[in-house]
Amino acid sequence: MLHLSSLSDIRRHTEQLRRQGQRIGFVPTMGALHEGHLSLIRAAKSQNDIIVCSVFVNPTQFNNQEDYRLYPRLPEKDAQMLAQEGCDVLFSPLAEEMYQHKSKLSFDFGELEQVMEGAHRPGHFNGVAMVVSKLFHLVKPHQAFFGQKDLQQFAIIQQLVLDLSFDLELVCFPIIREEDGLAMSSRNRRLTTEQREAAPQLHQALQLLRTQLQTLSVSEAKREAEAFLGRFPQIKLEYLEVVHAQTLQPLHEIAADVPVAICLAAFLGEVRLIDNLLL
Ligand code: PAF
Repeated sequence: MLHLSSLSDIRRHTEQLRRQGQRIGFVPTMGALHEGHLSLIRAAKSQNDIIVCSVFVNPTQFNNQEDYRLYPRLPEKDAQMLAQEGCDVLFSPLAEEMYQHKSKLSFDFGELEQVMEGAHRPGHFNGVAMVVSKLFHLVKPHQAFFGQKDLQQFAIIQQLVLDLSFDLELVCFPIIREEDGLAMSSRNRRLTTEQREAAPQLHQALQLLRTQLQTLSVSEAKREAEAFLGRFPQIKLEYLEVVHAQTLQPLHEIAADVPVAICLAAFLGEVRLIDNLLL
């Protein structure tokens, strides 16, 4: 596996790959890789000639500096896992080079970012859109792979690709879960034993909400699921939403022809986790 860090090296390398007619599959990550990331690498490999994975803990998408400081960083282990999975190029730039020039551009995704993650993490999607645009320019992928756990991020990136005419295909890959249902996340490493024991209740709450929606109104079903989570003192729910799966706007009732997603964010101590189900 080739390991590149400088912007000029990755740019030159992917230009050359494109000239040779190679199809590039790209998996952007912030490292501390787990099975969820590896499933994206495998999916990318099955449809492309060359796999590029970026590992970059992007400072501009953290609205909480402590969360940025404590974000797990395991560069050697990541490199080893990627090499074992057959990744061809690991790109891990330095923040100083990625943000050599202070950006003046800012993104506004309108109502898409006024709910859920966008509403609770001001500036987060601006940072995501900026870094993903930079990475797309540098890597020039034919396909880019993202996880469904960050459902709103995927919707934002779809909009970004449309608005800026990036010539690539986006692939959203299903959430990979631990055996007890907890959605895999790099942040899970930061949970204490007690928090880790409580964390699968987030998935339980989503499943309960899905069941309740079959017979109750949206507001009643939400109240039941919130009351369920209220029984676990380790969990502090930030939001629990029933939304249109594409526009991500809140739904007040469920109609047969409308795609629905149920999404939540919660704190376990200082660790903030998100999860969702598509109905
Ligand atoms: O989903 C992530 O890991 C990050 O938000 C991404 C897409 C790599 C941008 O930093």
